[in-house]
Amino acid sequence: MSALGESLSEVDWFFDGMQAGLFDLDGVIVDTAKYHYRAWRELANGLGFDVTEAQNERLKGISRMESLEVILGIGGVAIGAAEKDRLATVKNARYVEMVQQIDPSEILPGAKEYLLALRARGVKVGLGSASKNADIILRNLGIRPLFDAVIDGNQVSRSKPDPEVFLLGARALGVAPAACVVYEDAAAGVEAAKAGGMRAVGIGRAENLPNADIVVPGLYALLAR
Ligand code: BG6
Ligand code: MG
Repeated sequence: MSALGESLSEVDWFFDGMQAGLFDLDGVIVDTAKYHYRAWRELANGLGFDVTEAQNERLKGISRMESLEVILGIGGVAIGAAEKDRLATVKNARYVEMVQQIDPSEILPGAKEYLLALRARGVKVGLGSASKNADIILRNLGIRPLFDAVIDGNQVSRSKPDPEVFLLGARALGVAPAACVVYEDAAAGVEAAKAGGMRAVGIGRAENLPNADIVVPGLYALLAR
């Protein structure tokens, strides 16, 4: 692993032969984590406990039902399957209410420009997200047409760190895993990329993403190349 900026040639080598970029959504293209947090926090408060921002970190990259299990664990709440389904539905309704308001100003710095730059080079662009709300978010951001394939929580049966979401993305784009580069802000997503035989760019801080091949603070940092 190396930090970007150490050696440009090393970074160029990293991207050599790349035919497709597979992007996580939440935390890479748009900061929806704050909305997930707000919705989970409201749910937890309704159940009589609070969730800290640090605890919210554990929810990044994992599915809605897995997130609910973490939340219930934090509050020490034990309930049956039907009640879990109901709470997940309540949380999602609140989350959808918030993301329906999202507009292009919420695209993270450099993300749209980076997608355009890849496309201009003939690199295919795919989405690989755990979210079942990916489509509405991409449309509200106005960038749905920039994706040649969208694989989200509605099509996968195994959550990250399982590589399924990225392997389905590679297949939809007709590109071999070894020619794919994954962009991920969650450790589970980096694991998924590596398990799928793909290169992984970590978005965020290197200490949180120890298995990423390179780590950058945001897609904007890759634009200068
Ligand atoms: C991921 C988020 O992208 O999507 C997780 O990082 C979230 O925090 C997961 O739990 C599922 O999202 P949704 O929109 O299907 O509830
Ligand atoms: Mg993410």
